This record gives sequence, structure tokens and C-alpha cells, in this order.
Amino acid sequence: MEYVIEMLNITKDFPGIRANDNVTLQLKKGEIHALLGENGAGKSTLMSILFGLYQANSGVIKVRGEKVEINSPNDANALHIGMVHQHFKLVHNFTIAENIVLGKEDTKHGFLKMDEAIDKIQKLSDQFKFNINPNNIISDITVGMQQRVEILKMLYRDAEIMIFDEPTAVLTPQEIEELMSIMKELVKEGKSIILITHKLKEIKAVADRCSVLRKGKYIGTVDVKTTSVEQMAEMMVGRKVLFNVKKDDIEIGNGVLKVQNLDIHSKEGKHVIKDVSFDVKAGEILCVAGIEGNGQTQLVEAITGLNPHYSGKIFIHDKEITHSSIRNRTLSGIGHIPEDRHKHGLILEYSLAENMILQSYFDEEFQTHGFLKFDAISNHTNDLINRFDIRSGRGEKTIVRSMSGGNQQKAIVAREFDRNPDLMIAVQPTRGLDVGAIEYIHNQLVKLRDQNKAILLVSLELDEVMSVSDRIVVMYEGELVADVDPKKVTENELGLYMSGSKRGDMK
Ligand SMILES: Nc1ncnc2c1ncn2[C@@H]1O[C@H](COP(=O)(O)OP(=O)(O)OP(=O)(O)O)[C@@H](O)[C@H]1O
Ligand SMILES: [Mg+2]
Repeated sequence: MEYVIEMLNITKDFPGIRANDNVTLQLKKGEIHALLGENGAGKSTLMSILFGLYQANSGVIKVRGEKVEINSPNDANALHIGMVHQHFKLVHNFTIAENIVLGKEDTKHGFLKMDEAIDKIQKLSDQFKFNINPNNIISDITVGMQQRVEILKMLYRDAEIMIFDEPTAVLTPQEIEELMSIMKELVKEGKSIILITHKLKEIKAVADRCSVLRKGKYIGTVDVKTTSVEQMAEMMVGRKVLFNVKKDDIEIGNGVLKVQNLDIHSKEGKHVIKDVSFDVKAGEILCVAGIEGNGQTQLVEAITGLNPHYSGKIFIHDKEITHSSIRNRTLSGIGHIPEDRHKHGLILEYSLAENMILQSYFDEEFQTHGFLKFDAISNHTNDLINRFDIRSGRGEKTIVRSMSGGNQQKAIVAREFDRNPDLMIAVQPTRGLDVGAIEYIHNQLVKLRDQNKAILLVSLELDEVMSVSDRIVVMYEGELVADVDPKKVTENELGLYMSGSKRGDMK
């Protein structure tokens, strides 16, 4: 039997949208099979059907040649199918071991056989060089480690078929490398893997074959070795994608954001930002580069007012905002695309329209005498949906939680760009987006800069840092350790600054 999984003619409808339209996916034993498609193309839906979270309206699933019904994740587990979700599903105050056995607790005389479980987990961890301690608490470990817990959860349940939904979107470059070798190790052990990712480089690096979806439809399956990145991108979006950002030199203006001697201690007393000073000028895209966890998050929290506990001064133009509320900072002309779109970007239970006016519902445009103007809000949202190509089932009325991850991100980007801020703080703005959407957002950032606005871009992606920014500062352990010109610096040199092996001059 060549195929371990066959999904044949799968169709799935949600209110207002056909998420999968007669889709076919065939997974060979021992292969890494990439699933590629634009935001909202139906990838997560298809995999949720295979994992028993959704039922298809029609179509057939065969596992090792046998036709099966998968009505719940328990059915999927019984068929040795496991899944690591786009947003992890771990209990944060439980230990690693407790999370892994959850739902599959073996007992003896009514008592949990925890010691045996811990033993088995440790063995699996050693076998795949995961380097975890089963007794650690989830909230104390890094995102990369949390992902390993999710993988261990699958191994603990003897999964033979493993689904990874955008596993690298939340990882650092180093962790991505490690995950790639883990995947190769897993297929060597005879596992079969379905990998969803927007990063074509990763597909090139690990996948054997790649199936492409576009707007819910199956486009085709290609052999990765003989297919170029450009060809895959074109299959996916239906047109050629430019991988380089087009940018002309423009005159740099006055400072828009000024940060002076910013110093922050975390709640635990750690010195997380150490006397940081810098400007972002009109007509400039300044990128803060660095490895995750070197103070970028705290820096942005201070400037946006999410955390007011710091010393030092912050100015927008010449107005001091050091002690201003978040709302007043927003009104002073700060736009913010936050790092965590679920925590700080959106209210998931609200509709798309409601989310589009979170910072402006009190504007005359949207209310009179305390009453919302629903027609105006609706028109405004539909305008953003069209301009930014936000795809969902029910348009402005869609509850944001049901939108695909990438389209949630596009909604935030639309709202923040539309406010036309003097300073745009964009933190990982293209995380989870397809190549077409990334191209679009990069062009929007450049357009904003060409209108003499200032952009503070925080990014972990070296490709993005190098192609979009006009100037790069590198953050390492809470300090700015270099200030460089992207046209002159090499990726290698940036890597040295980022890892703390080298220090440059601060201008
Ligand atoms: N539970 C749901 N209720 C209603 N609509 C849904 C639900 N889940 C998904 N959809 C819709 O189905 C379509 C496909 O979504 P899906 O999450 O499968 O996309 P995706 O290919 O994984 O995209 P992304 O790359 O952005 O994660 C989207 O338009 C989405 O709005
Ligand atoms: Mg998805």
C-alpha cells in the first residue's frame, strides 16, 4: 500500500463559505508532505477533518487503504493520527508530564501511574534529543520547548501520522533548524508527516512532495526537488510573486519617535532594558533586529504604554508621552501591530466590524451622542475588507475567532494602516502570512514611509529585516549593540551582533 492517508473529494462548508471544495490529499508512508496555500485556503480545515475536529460534508478518508470515519480526536488517536495545532493547546500550570498524559491516563487501583509515564516520556525525549525535563511547568519553558511537548504528546500516543499546522511561525531561526532535524528523524523512524507552512524555504529544506490549495480548491501536487520556490508561489496565489521589495531612496526628515535612557526592570526584578536611546525619523523604516527574548517585547510595551513601569523619556514629535495613557498615545499618532494578535490585537468574540473600530468607536465618524452609527461602521469595514483582501465566511459580521490565522492578522494590519499613524510600530507584521500577503504588507510599509511617516519594525526574520529596513539596530540582552546600514551589513555579521559575539558603534 503506497498511501497511509488518502483524503478523497473532501468538501466542507461553513456558514457563507466552502472551505474545502472537492479536495484530494494523498500521503505516502515515510514522507514529509507539505500543504501550501494562501491565508484562508482551507489548510487548517482539511487537517481538522483528518484529526476528527470537524466532519466533512462529503468525501472519503482512507487510512492504510481502509475507509474510516473519524468523528473525534479520540478516533484519530486510535488510528495513530496526531496533530500539533497552529495555536498550542497546553495547560499552562501543569507539568510537561501532566500535559502529555492528559486524556490518556493509565491507572492502577484508581491511582495514576505517573512514575511509569514520566519514565516513558524521558525515554522518548532522549531518543529524539528533545532535552526536556518532564517535571517542568509549561509556563516556565520557551515556546520552542512547548512545541516539543506537543510532539511528545503525539509520540506518547504512538502516532504514526503527524500533522504540523504552521509549527515554525512561532519559532526562532535556531529552533526552526532543530525542528527540521527532528522531523527528518521522525520520518527515519517510519512516521509520515503533513507539514503546513507559508515558508517556501522550509518546504525546500525538508519536504518530499507539496500539495497546493487555492480558495478551498485542490490545485495539484508537485515533487519538491524539481519545483522552484517561484513555481510553488505561483501555483498558490495564481500569479507571479515578487520576492524583492521595491524601494527608492527618499529624504529623511526630523525625529518622530525619540526614546531617551529607557530602563526597565521586569516584575521578577530582571534588568530587561538597559539605558536604551534612539530616534526613528520621518521617512525611515528602522528595524530592531535580534533573537527573541532580548528585550524587544518590553521595548514595545513601554512605547505603546502597555507597560507604564519604566524610567527614561519618550517623545512623539516634540510632545512628551512618557506618562500618557494608551489611548492618548494612540491619539498622538501611534499605530501598533502587536506581537500577540490574540492577546493585544483583537477581541476574538467580537465581529470583524467591531474589531475595526476598537480605537475609534468614540470618533464622530462612528457615533453621535453615544449611539453607534452602524451604517458608517459597516461601510468602513467593507472598505477595509476590499482594500486589504480580508477573507472570511460572513464579511463584516464574521466573529473573528472563526477567521483563519492569516486573515486575523490582515484585519489588524488593515485597521492600523488605515489610521494613517505618524509612527507605525510593527511587530512581526507578517507572521503567519502567505507570500502574496507578505509582499502586500511590505509594500504598504514602504508606502507609509514614502509619505514621510516613521516605522519601527521589530522582526525576527532576517530576510525581512534585510529587504525592508532603511536602518537596523540590533538588540542583545536589553541593550542596543549595533546601528548598521542594511546595504552594507551582511547577514553573517548581523548574526554575530544578534548572538552577542560582536559589538558595533551606536550612532
Ligand atoms: N469554525 C469555523 N467557522 C466558520 N468559518 C470557518 C471556521 N473555520 C474556518 N472557517 C473559514 O474557512 C476558511 C478556511 O479557513 P482555514 O482556517 O482552513 O484556512 P487556512 O488555509 O488554514 O489559512 P491560514 O493560512 O490563514 O491559517 C476561512 O475563510 C475561514 O474563515
Ligand atoms: Mg491555518
